[in-house]
Amino acid sequence: MGGTFEPENIVVTGGCGFIGSNFVHHVVREHPGVHVTVLDKLTYAGNPGNIAGLPSDRVELVVGDICDEGLVDRLVAGADAVVHYAAESHNDNSIADPSPFLETNVRGTYTLIEACRKHGVRYHHVSTDEVYGDLALDDPARFTEETPYRPSSPYSSTKAASDMLVRTWVRTFGLRATISNCSNNYGPYQHVEKFIPRQITNLIDGVRPKLYGDGRNVRDWIHTEDHSSAVWCILTKGRIGETYLIGADGERDNLAVLREILRAFGRPEDDFDWVRDRPGHDRRYAIDSAKLRRELGWEPARTDFAAGLAETIEWYRENEPWWRPAKEATEVRYRAQGQ
Ligand code: NAD
Ligand code: TYD
Repeated sequence: MGGTFEPENIVVTGGCGFIGSNFVHHVVREHPGVHVTVLDKLTYAGNPGNIAGLPSDRVELVVGDICDEGLVDRLVAGADAVVHYAAESHNDNSIADPSPFLETNVRGTYTLIEACRKHGVRYHHVSTDEVYGDLALDDPARFTEETPYRPSSPYSSTKAASDMLVRTWVRTFGLRATISNCSNNYGPYQHVEKFIPRQITNLIDGVRPKLYGDGRNVRDWIHTEDHSSAVWCILTKGRIGETYLIGADGERDNLAVLREILRAFGRPEDDFDWVRDRPGHDRRYAIDSAKLRRELGWEPARTDFAAGLAETIEWYRENEPWWRPAKEATEVRYRAQGQ
């Protein structure tokens, strides 16, 4: 195991998005000596309100693009570490238009790692289990760090490409980097285009939830707070050049998750619409996070899914002004796709 790394100034890209902003809250709460510079372009998925109210001497927001070489160079030069969350993150959007995924996920990552290489700055790359493709429902296997890459969508293939760039920069240029691949996150501040918030906000609006395909696709759910603690653990204790899978043993099929949400709203369990399936829809994701637990001693703390889901539903009920502005445009887009 490497020695403990203690960064004081970190750049968090995508810190106004769902998982990035939860990480910024986590760092401010748990690591009082650390200053965070958020670099975020504020796309449709970024909301400065996600980090509003955090102390201004601890968190600075720089609005800009990770593909902007000059800006990235200036920010990286003054940092001890970069934690890279910024991405185009939604599969359905990547099928409708792959182009911004190539630009942000591939060119953006390249821009960041070039700057980190030049300035000798530690880099942590946040990625997804979707780079491994999918597993059959009846396959006892789970993804490990040794599973071959087999991405299915423009989203996951651009994430896979970015992981490969980081691996190459480690081997050829000696970049001090780690990579994590995490399963599906849920929790506060998740955009209403994603599965769980879409169904919760539909039900608040009195609209029937929408389930793709046969509803049997399995996702391995983790609370975003557990993702944050894992990323911090890897950043500070992980071995350079290594990949760590992050997961909390949360496999559930979409139908089961939807029925849990319907129950929380007091609705009958079949009160939803079946809609057109996603082309190339991955069947099942499942993470074996033994390496992270064994080598770095990380454990998830928020493994009670029912409790986490109930809290998340409560958050969306209490924060309608946060999600309302995005809801109509999101549903218009889905309707046009037959979803
Ligand atoms: P998100 O879509 O909620 O947020 C993405 C953020 O990145 C937004 O704030 C957006 O404004 C910003 N951004 C986009 N393009 C940018 C650019 N060119 N320059 C600067 N900022 C830009 O995404 P998320 O769900 O929070 O995902 C964050 C990261 O975690 C992504 O890298 C994603 O691949 C990874 N991940 C997500 C999940 C999940 O379940 N959502 C699971 C595993 C890994
Ligand atoms: P999503 O939140 O888009 O995450 P990902 O595609 O990265 O796993 O979707 C999670 C699962 O829910 C996925 O199997 C697709 C499905 N889904 C629906 O059934 N209905 C919906 O309205 C959405 C958005 C997703």
